[in-house]
Amino acid sequence: MDNRPIGIFDSGLGGLTAVKETVRRLPGENIIFFGDTGRVPYGTRSAPTIIRYALEDMRFLKRFDIKAAVVACGTVSTTALPQLRENFSLPIYGVTEAAVAAAVRETRSGRIGVIGTNASIRSGTYERLLRQRLPDAAVISRPCPLLVPLVEDGRFDPEDPVVRLLLCEYLTPILEFGADTLILGCTHYPLLRAAVSAVCGNGVTLIDPGRETAEVLARELAADGLAADPGRRGSVSCYVSDDAQSFSRFGGMFLGADITATVSLCDIFDETAAKHEG
Ligand code: DGL
Repeated sequence: MDNRPIGIFDSGLGGLTAVKETVRRLPGENIIFFGDTGRVPYGTRSAPTIIRYALEDMRFLKRFDIKAAVVACGTVSTTALPQLRENFSLPIYGVTEAAVAAAVRETRSGRIGVIGTNASIRSGTYERLLRQRLPDAAVISRPCPLLVPLVEDGRFDPEDPVVRLLLCEYLTPILEFGADTLILGCTHYPLLRAAVSAVCGNGVTLIDPGRETAEVLARELAADGLAADPGRRGSVSCYVSDDAQSFSRFGGMFLGADITATVSLCDIFDETAAKHEG
């Protein structure tokens, strides 16, 4: 048994979709979440910048003596996972591998769509991992750069005409391609799940990377003897690099009423700075 916390990070609010799934699956674990709200979005940036940010974020989380880390960011998972694993000696879970495994399990036709940030799609990681598992897969990948700012602004209502318009533009080629499975390849996108479903209809299975990763994490922590004591109640502590108040407001919405979390503003570069409650 190991009651040390699990570290989870993302560029912003989206990673909370993975936190929510982790709490649902592993209610006894303490979670330290870092959302780099001062530097979001990552998905519009170059690979070297994303790698640098990811290493800095992980260095911050390591201060909490974490036993494992979840990279709750499709952009970092597709672009910086090897560098994170090279530089830090703890189990690090990206969201891409579990999402790909689920897509391969779910597809009936072998026609799979992937949506993600510019950086994620440019990396080709989803396609590469899909082809490794299913060599005959027909894959269509589409960058959806306007979805992250939309979600960060709290707009994901399926009735919102801007949401609908953008999703129709991004998803029409995927529907025309005939995909029966769609990887929501950015952790912000599960917040748009209802809106994506409304556009895609029932014939397309949506894959939530955070949910799939929480399943893998639960299995592997148990197998490695790293799970927290059974029967214990865990906690969620969030740290953000900017605007803790707006994060608290939207974050509560994302996590749902049954999960309570503290939110603190932090300077990840200042090892001695006091943390201010948001
Ligand atoms: N939620 C992240 C992802 O999965 C980050 C998006 C961004 O910062 O652009 O890609």
